[in-house]
Amino acid sequence: MLAAATLLAVTSVGTRLAAHGDVTPQPVDTSALPDIGDKWVTHNPYRGNAKAAEIGKSAFGQNCARCHGLDAISGGIAPDLRYLELGDSGDEWFVQRFQHGSSRDGKVYMPPFGEALGQKAGWAIRSWLETRHTDD
Ligand code: HEC
Repeated sequence: MLAAATLLAVTSVGTRLAAHGDVTPQPVDTSALPDIGDKWVTHNPYRGNAKAAEIGKSAFGQNCARCHGLDAISGGIAPDLRYLELGDSGDEWFVQRFQHGSSRDGKVYMPPFGEALGQKAGWAIRSWLETRHTDD
């Protein structure tokens, strides 16, 4: 009973809080977005697409926020993604990390998401991140 109540509480608070406990990639529904094929592209095909940004915001909350911070404001354990470069060069760096993650000397700093979530979800997240961009 207690467990069920806790689960309900977590679920109703929303995805952003629940995300903190998740370690497995959470599926993202990208069916509302135009298909872009299986071959990975290097520039965001959804840039400026409001629907993509909306999907990306939720996908980020479920998959990235536990390390990169709620609303992409980093608490310090991973880079603050609001500072990623805008435009094509930022896209290339973003998709590289999204797809392959980051590991050095056998230590995983960031897990890969490419296979689990696919590129539509990746570009949706990037679309939202660009709306959060800051230079400050
Ligand atoms: C387990 C923690 C963790 C999760 C979850 C995570 N990241 Fe990361 N991410 C990191 C760390 C740590 C780095 C820095 C890697 C390094 O120093 O090589 C990083 C780096 C990055 C970078 C490069 C940033 C830069 O300034 O160089 C991008 C882009 C990125 N992550 C995007 C994402 C996205 C999008 C998600 C969700 C789909 C995500 N990350 C999920 C830990 C995480």
